Amino acid sequence: MSDYLLTTIPTPKQNYNTFASRLLAWFDECGRHDLPWQQHHKADADIYAVWLSEVMLQQTQVATVLGYFEKFITAFPTVQDLAQASWDDVAALWAGLGYYARARNLHQGAKQVAQFIDQTGQFPQTVSDWQMICGVGQSTAGAIVAMGVRGRGVICDGNVKRVLTRWAAIDGDITKSATSKELWVLAERLTPNINSGNYAQAMMDLGATLCTRKKPACHRCPISSDCIAHHNGNPEQYPVKPKKTDKPHRYAFAIQLTYMGQTLWLKRQHPSGHGIWEGLWCLPLIQTDADTFCHAISAKLLCPSSLALSQTDMPLGDGQIANVLAQKISKPAPICRHIKHTLTHFHWHLAIVSITADDKLIERINHALSDVHAKFTWADGVNLAKPAAMDKLIG
Ligand code: ADE
Repeated sequence: MSDYLLTTIPTPKQNYNTFASRLLAWFDECGRHDLPWQQHHKADADIYAVWLSEVMLQQTQVATVLGYFEKFITAFPTVQDLAQASWDDVAALWAGLGYYARARNLHQGAKQVAQFIDQTGQFPQTVSDWQMICGVGQSTAGAIVAMGVRGRGVICDGNVKRVLTRWAAIDGDITKSATSKELWVLAERLTPNINSGNYAQAMMDLGATLCTRKKPACHRCPISSDCIAHHNGNPEQYPVKPKKTDKPHRYAFAIQLTYMGQTLWLKRQHPSGHGIWEGLWCLPLIQTDADTFCHAISAKLLCPSSLALSQTDMPLGDGQIANVLAQKISKPAPICRHIKHTLTHFHWHLAIVSITADDKLIERINHALSDVHAKFTWADGVNLAKPAAMDKLIG
């Protein structure tokens, strides 16, 4: 073998000092400059718009957020408007965006921010003050300060972690706190003192458009010359994450109970106060096991005797409906449709069971629900704040 083939190309020396300037130059030319929440081209930054967009963007793609951001900012143009809004109005606008805890935190956070403004005359100005606001973690606080307040803010969200683990070939599990600390130290070191807002947006844009999870476009990347993963030809191996464990499956019958053209909707209120879809309107959901579920959907029928309950932390009303139906329905009810909906922690299999109620059944149901102070309504459901799974289910 010739000496030539044995020679390896030396690992590039990383240039920390020019990292930010290379990124900012790339951002000027190739970054995104027309997102409706961006403030860098405005004389006065709207801190509220930055905060709102950052919360929406926490687990959601830009393309999805665009429409929701527009609706929100039109309905609640100021943080005070949002603070004074009812939860139902907030939930209705958030419906479909998912991760509803964000909406609850945003609403609660608006009340905190409005109070902060009442007391101090201005929005929170520092990363630590922003971190006191519900739903604002370290990276979101850094982004708000950098892009909204126009102070120095450091971000280290998922996109940034992908870029930095590749650039510095950090191969620790990114879900471990030691790796996270290492990444925060690096993010802190690379963030410039001036222009950290544009730098933050540039890092997010780079992660979203070039340094993508699969097939990164290294040939167009402003920091590829000293990116170790690029040099080693293995950027897709970063960031290192623990092996995915399979999500569990859950099964439930969604009871579509109709009376005079209207359907029964229950507002989800768990005893714990923070169950899945808390505060949103759903068809009554009766959890079941895989066998009963599969048997029912293959028969396209649900026998009322299958409405046994073994659920804990069940939202108010579901159990009462199951009891009334198990006692009062004499023949199997048709199942017209079923879906699989994947949430953060589990797959949910849901089947619609259609039941047309008569006066007697209605009386029993209304009574059982009122007894436990469940919030319910008979409606067509169109304008209720529902989770996306309900829209998918009812088609
Ligand atoms: N993800 C989180 N914040 C973002 C932003 N400001 N722009 C684009 N993507 C983002």
